[in-house]
Amino acid sequence: MTLNLVVLPGDGIGPEVTKAAEDVLSAVCKGAGLELKMSHHLIGGIAIDETGNPLPEETLAACADAQGVLLGAVGGPKWDGGSVRPEQGLLRIREALGLFTNIRPVRVFEGLEHLSPIKNAAGLDIVIVRELTGGIYFGERQEGDEVASDLCTYSAEEVRRVVAPAFEIAKARNGKLTSVDKANVLASSRLWRRTAEAVAKDYPEVTLSHALVDAMAMHLVTHPNDFDVLVTENMFGDILSDEAAAVSGSIGLAASASLGAPGTPGLYEPIHGSAPDIAGQGVANPSGAILSAAMFLRFGAAREDLASQIEAAVESALKAGVLTRDLGGDANTEEITSAILERL
Ligand code: NAI
Ligand code: MG
Repeated sequence: MTLNLVVLPGDGIGPEVTKAAEDVLSAVCKGAGLELKMSHHLIGGIAIDETGNPLPEETLAACADAQGVLLGAVGGPKWDGGSVRPEQGLLRIREALGLFTNIRPVRVFEGLEHLSPIKNAAGLDIVIVRELTGGIYFGERQEGDEVASDLCTYSAEEVRRVVAPAFEIAKARNGKLTSVDKANVLASSRLWRRTAEAVAKDYPEVTLSHALVDAMAMHLVTHPNDFDVLVTENMFGDILSDEAAAVSGSIGLAASASLGAPGTPGLYEPIHGSAPDIAGQGVANPSGAILSAAMFLRFGAAREDLASQIEAAVESALKAGVLTRDLGGDANTEEITSAILERL
């Protein structure tokens, strides 16, 4: 079997962290006898510099043919204030690939509990599944001087197609799924809840519960460990996933996957940006990108075994104290990458 991955290094620390992730992916695939084909293409500021377009057609065509896309980061002060912005490349690729499911694991690794701003975060390991292309961010908008409105609309199908993968993830983990809504007030949330209940019938091995978003915002800081997989609509997910990332305490470790319809390429990227303040110094933490590459193996290649291997190696390197500056250590990108490779 051959895996076909498009790599979009992008700007700032993007190329530094994707390089590390490529090395790790290559090692794991080699060990498993899998052929891995990677091709590099332009996105973001560097694409603007070279082609005038933050997402060249050529890049998009390569992505459409791949099993997955690994992205570093885009943007930086160089392109601020220009008429074309690097971030447009990111928005366009998400749209073009039809990525409606955003998956963000939130973990607190052993030995890094002190980075969390909350005291009971030890062992935190949850996954937030956020709907990415519907709801209030994409609804009808009216903007007047004195009155403005944003409409939150969901169809049952839009809910089903994101809730189903959340059930799959819950089934592969601890059989526990919490759907987050505001069903005591919003009609769109009542549709969300009814639809989640209907999908639950296909997953008898998963226990579905519901929580209101305002309560969940509190739970995430008071007892986040009571949860395992959360699924929610676009805006609630935007807010809760950032809250959860803050609870975990380290932006350089956080990974994400954005998926569309089954069989289409997903986008795998660390949640951090291009970190212009440290770009080019070789000190960026590549763990977020490496863990995103692991998500590619899990969701894009159905190789849970290889994804877990990478995660265990990252976990072990961190536990051994091989820490980059953002985690309070002095290891550079190459050192943490080598420590992870050694463990593979
Ligand atoms: P940022 O995530 O790039 O950096 C925030 C802080 O965290 C900085 O101090 C940075 O040094 C540190 N940091 C981030 N990732 C790190 C890593 N892997 N290792 C060590 N330290 C790390 O966010 P910021 O500064 O708000 O944005 C910088 C640029 O990135 C902007 O142009 C922004 O638009 C863009 N951006 C791009 C994103 C993407 O490509 N998905 C997401 C967020 C921002
Ligand atoms: Mg956000």
